[in-house]
Amino acid sequence: MARRLITTEPLENEKKSEAGLRPQLLADYIGQKKVREMLKIYIDAAKARGEALDHVLFFGPPGLGKTTLAGIIANEMGVNIRTTSGPAIEKPGDMASILYKLNEGDVLFIDEIHRIPRQVEEFLYSAMEDFTMDVLIGQGANAVSKHFTLPHFTLVGATTRAGMLTAPLRDRFGVVTRLEFYSDEELKQIVLRSAGVLGAEISEDGALEIARRSRGTPRLANRLLKRVRDYAQVKGDGSVTKEIADKALDLLEVDKQGLDHVDRRFLLAMIEKFGGGPVGIESVAVSIGEDAGTVEEVYEPFLVQNGFVARTPRGRIVLPKAYYHLGLTPPQAGEE
Ligand SMILES: Nc1ncnc2c1ncn2[C@@H]1O[C@H](COP(=O)(O)OP(=O)(O)OP(=O)(O)O)[C@@H](O)[C@H]1O
Ligand SMILES: [Mg+2]
Repeated sequence: MARRLITTEPLENEKKSEAGLRPQLLADYIGQKKVREMLKIYIDAAKARGEALDHVLFFGPPGLGKTTLAGIIANEMGVNIRTTSGPAIEKPGDMASILYKLNEGDVLFIDEIHRIPRQVEEFLYSAMEDFTMDVLIGQGANAVSKHFTLPHFTLVGATTRAGMLTAPLRDRFGVVTRLEFYSDEELKQIVLRSAGVLGAEISEDGALEIARRSRGTPRLANRLLKRVRDYAQVKGDGSVTKEIADKALDLLEVDKQGLDHVDRRFLLAMIEKFGGGPVGIESVAVSIGEDAGTVEEVYEPFLVQNGFVARTPRGRIVLPKAYYHLGLTPPQAGEE
């Protein structure tokens, strides 16, 4: 599969540059109004009581701000953040040594928490619930179990695959929140803010044009902004206008609705090979050479959210909006 400019996952060279664009405090965080309001209440309450914040789980598609919010929580609470990820913790001992180094109130951020091994997950239960852990020290017949009391810490978990978390783990989070796609207006604000941070000159309608093609995803909005800024420097006078944004994004083959060749291929496969559905996600995924899980949790949510595709009990169906967008005529109502 050709690399996608509009993948919502971070590109290799982006991991560092993203850090500079991350808002540091709740007040700078744009969008996700409900999540922001709720976090503010919990954070204020925990601070007033002088306690650690409850464990928080963020789930939702890539690039919507889960990692950013974990950092914001630590900043707002005035504590340190220790970051790790599910696949990096191989055994309970790894987890134990991370927990052992935490200080009172610290945030432990576990990204891709759905990927922690089962044994590690079970080890986490008592740490999350009672702030204790039992660690086997020594080997074989000489091994003894030692009981530790841990500082009260806040576990912040993030996952793009909420369905892959077990119920016992999910239930141990006091706050479970789903991040939603951003509106064009919110993304426009994000683009304007990022342009300010990058020192790029941009007009309101230039920002809106980038926002519209960013699939509701801040990571993508920031990426497109950088590409458009490059284009503006080379082909224009450096400032990002609507006209420049339009031309640059057309050149990058991100269409007016934020769809790229992979989306179009996905939709066309459903229409041409499966009569527009209903069709199982596995069948479509195989037909375009993709993994079903990735299609379902990474590519498809945006198409569903925006009315191109619907999920039905019998499978996926292509909606009229997709036909029109591809310049095709939808099948007559009632014909299927
Ligand atoms: N609300 C926001 N306001 C401004 N910028 C944002 C916001 N949310 C996310 N961003 C920007 O989008 C980028 C991606 O955000 P982040 O890394 O937090 O996403 P994520 O949900 O953790 O993604 P992943 O699932 O891939 O880990 C960051 O560079 C950040 O600057
Ligand atoms: Mg992240």
